[in-house]
Amino acid sequence: MLVRLLYASRATDAVNAEALASILKVSKERNHNAGVTGVLCHCASSKVFMQVLEGGRGPVSALYHRIAQDPRHRDVVLLSYEEIGERSFSGWSMGQVSMSRLNPALLLKYSESAVLDPYSVPGKASLALFNELVATASVASQG
Ligand SMILES: Cc1cc2nc3c(=O)[nH]c(=O)nc-3n(C[C@H](O)[C@H](O)[C@H](O)COP(=O)(O)O)c2cc1C
Repeated sequence: MLVRLLYASRATDAVNAEALASILKVSKERNHNAGVTGVLCHCASSKVFMQVLEGGRGPVSALYHRIAQDPRHRDVVLLSYEEIGERSFSGWSMGQVSMSRLNPALLLKYSESAVLDPYSVPGKASLALFNELVATASVASQG
């Protein structure tokens, strides 16, 4: 039983480059052990996080609740949750999208402006953006 979950949140002041690297390091280790895959997107200018998690229903649910309690972000909103037949992000225990290297045209394709604002677009549009990031090789394993 596989599920895919997408949420958005806003980073608190505690999140700098070092903190982000630490989140990714822990995520890769723990997600690998839990059979969870996904991608984390962080926009430093708007302080927005968007993360997609895939895996077994139990592990993904437990992880989402743990992440939602993390004081390094707030305003956690569930954007999409679905049962799936196959993973879309199986290549990453936690991939990373660097917003600074992102083509603004990709953001414009799915929203009114070239600013990452998952709070103002449908969850389906954010998921489509993630899929396109994978298709355009914009997801990095580290760095
Ligand atoms: C935006 C964000 C995304 C996170 N993503 C993950 C993740 O994918 N996997 C994970 O294990 N922890 C993730 N964490 C860290 C967890 O919130 C938590 O700190 C970590 O899993 C350790 O949990 P523990 O202190 O209860 O052992 C994330 C934290 C934040 C702020």
